[in-house]
Amino acid sequence: MAEQLFFDPNASKADKYQELIPQIEALISVEDDVTANLANVVAALKQAMSFFWVGFYIVREENMLVLGPFQGPIACTRIPKGRGVCGAAFEQGQTILVPDVDAFPGHIACSSDSKSEIVLPAFKDGEVALILDVDSDQLNDFDEVDQQHLERLMRVIETKL
Ligand code: SME
Repeated sequence: MAEQLFFDPNASKADKYQELIPQIEALISVEDDVTANLANVVAALKQAMSFFWVGFYIVREENMLVLGPFQGPIACTRIPKGRGVCGAAFEQGQTILVPDVDAFPGHIACSSDSKSEIVLPAFKDGEVALILDVDSDQLNDFDEVDQQHLERLMRVIETKL
């Protein structure tokens, strides 16, 4: 596939996801290297959705998330299971939507500009294998539209883990 994304920058958020996810699926379907695929996934999300920060934390050892491919300002490199939003999503194995990071107990502020976030797990062999973290510099920037489409994306990513 050509290394170019096609999307309408003026489309609604839902329509952008609808256009983008099949293109990401096609892009990663022809490559088996996990790092290369995760790097392209975050680049595609950043380009199409203009997220402030988007990146993966990868499960290393039993209880530790380590920073993986991302786009945006530099970030914390290690997050223990149960710590912050990412560590909570790792522990619970489910999506966490945070409309206001200051109201989330234990939130880890990698950037003081981050105001809201959505964090989603992907699974391999029934265990959390990695976390997708998307941060916004606006309060209350993520909703069930993001959750629905990003969860669909995580199922696509799982096919390549
Ligand atoms: N805010 C996250 C940490 C990761 S950074 O935002 C990139 C958390 O509380 O887990």
